[in-house]
Formats: sequence, C-alpha cells, structure tokens
Amino acid sequence: MTFGRITALLGVISAICVALIYLYPDLRWTLPVAAAEEARGIDDLFRLMLVVSTVIFIFVQGFLLYFVWLYRRRPEDPEDAVGLALHGDNRLEIAWTAAPALFLVVLTILSYNQFEKLRLDQPVPGAHIVDVEGFQFAWRFTHPETGIVESNVLTMEKGQTVTFNITGNDVTHAFWVPAFRLKQDATPGFTRSIHITPNMTHVEAGYTGDAANNIPEGFPLRCAELCGIGHSQMLAYVRVLEPAAYAAWETEALEAMANAGAGVTIYQENGCNGCHLLEEANAVGAVGPTHENLAETSASRIADPAYTGEAASVEDYIRESIRNPGVYLVEGYANSMPAFSPEAISDEELDALVELLLQQDE
Ligand code: CUA
Repeated sequence: MTFGRITALLGVISAICVALIYLYPDLRWTLPVAAAEEARGIDDLFRLMLVVSTVIFIFVQGFLLYFVWLYRRRPEDPEDAVGLALHGDNRLEIAWTAAPALFLVVLTILSYNQFEKLRLDQPVPGAHIVDVEGFQFAWRFTHPETGIVESNVLTMEKGQTVTFNITGNDVTHAFWVPAFRLKQDATPGFTRSIHITPNMTHVEAGYTGDAANNIPEGFPLRCAELCGIGHSQMLAYVRVLEPAAYAAWETEALEAMANAGAGVTIYQENGCNGCHLLEEANAVGAVGPTHENLAETSASRIADPAYTGEAASVEDYIRESIRNPGVYLVEGYANSMPAFSPEAISDEELDALVELLLQQDE
C-alpha cells in the first residue's frame, strides 16, 4: 500500500467518525444530558474539540502503524542492520508547529467568548438570585427575595434564569452541576457569579432518583474541589420544577418556615444536616454521628473515662461539641467538624439547637 492510499484511507475513517459524532449530536454517550440553555454553547465547543482530536488521533496512530509495518525488519536484513537516519525538513517543521498554534488561538477565542457569556459580575434583569455558600461539608442555598434557605436540595424553576452568587465559608469548594455544564470555585472572601437557565425538569431528564440505592431525585450537584475529609459527602440535588409546581413549592416552603421551630432553621442554615442524621430536620448525613437519641448518647459519652471535656450536663456537652468539636470524638468518626464560634452561631441560637437536639427522645 502506498503512502497516498494510506492517507486516503485515514481520511475516509476520519470522515466516518466525524459523521458519527454529528449524527448523535446529543453526546449522551460522553456527557450527561444538557439541561440548561447555557449548556449548548459548551457542548458545541466540546464537540468541535472532539472532532479535531479524533481526526488528529486517527492520522497520528494510522501513520504510526503504517510506518512500523513499512520499515519493519525483514528476513533478508543483516543481523547488525540499523534504520535509515532521516533529518529535518524545514517546511514540515514550520507546518506542524504553526497548525496547532493556530488551532489553539482559535480555540482560545471561541472559549473566551463562551466564558464571557456565562460569567457575570452584574445580575441579569429578571433573574432570580440564589446565594450559594459552600462549607465543610454541605451547601447552603439562600433565595434572598423570599428568605427561603435550602441545604441538601436546591429548587429551581424551569425556564427561569438564576444568578448564582457563589462563595466559600471556610476553604475552597467548587459548585458543579454536570447537567448544567458550569463549574465555579466557591472561594472564601470572593463572590463569583454565574447564571443558569434550566430548560428541562429533572424528571424530564430522567433524574428521578433510585430509592433502592438511596439516590434522591434531582440533578446531582457536586463539590468539585477536594476540601477535606467529608468532600465526597458534599452531595446535593437540584430539582427543577415547572412554573406552577415551583410556585406551589415556594408557598409551601414559606409556610414551613413560618411554622418551623427556630432550632430546625438554625440546624439547616448551618449545614448540620450535611453531615448528621436527624429526621425532624430532614437530615440524612452520615459523615458525623447521628443526632437521634442525643440525650441518651450524650450522657454515656460524658461518662466515658476517655472524656476530657468540662461538660457537667447533657446540655453543656452539646454546646461544647458545637463550639469545640475536637474535645471528644465519637468512636469511628474523624475530627472533621468545624468549630462554630459565637459569631457563627450565637449563644441564643445555640440554646435553640440544644432544645431541638434534646427533644428527640420525647
Ligand atoms: Cu467541598 Cu469538596
């Protein structure tokens, strides 16, 4: 086979692969479903890079195999035969330096355009605002217009643009919903904004959860920055609702807020539910010990000879464990909980938490 024929053959294989990439344009075999308007531009970029790298891969590997075969050792070659030493060709070297450089410039321009569309320092007119805070090890979502605060679940309305103001409370986390394609670091001291318009409900996209495997419904929201021992537990879910269902959710959430005890609100706002289990607060975390039956377990912990803290009562023990979690570690759990100072949780709020945590046994 001649070099010309091989080149033609690789060209045909490339054309078939490129055609396949465009024949299956939803990319479901490489990426999760694209559930936001902003995702389309990102997927177009991805598809372009996929096409170019596929063609490069086919030609490089094709020629490599061809030359391995062409210049193989033959039976009639002498024992000490060495290969032909070829030296540079200026035109070729200029060409294979210039072509990738040019392609990178084009990609940079396309990527930057895309980036500028998504990154906003000003809220979009008509957009809902959601303030996002990442902390060890949970997310807090505040809807400032209504005062609704969510933690493990973020609720959004289909077709409604949301401006996310994203920050971190302790270390750097990263807000990432693969179905929306956008990822933004949540860095303490900075607030970064991105906007997302979901154009599909999680049910339409097939994220209906799996009760048998304990997977809640909603688009997975992941922390994409290694942020400590509970990083892998920083899971949240985004539920995108039809406008009518969203309005109903909002009404219900406001009612629940009005009726909830102060303790539950404080519990959720501080992300306790990210790591602990407490039915009353809808908390199913497993990074830290359960908060069910805390009166009983706290009493036995104070009585533990290994206990070196100063708490004389169950109430004091809970206060101490929130202010200074490292004093006593429950067996089987690492020292991964942040200490909550009086600036983070005031003494009054602390009392409400103690009340919530102790009423579980009644
Ligand atoms: Cu937060 Cu990883």
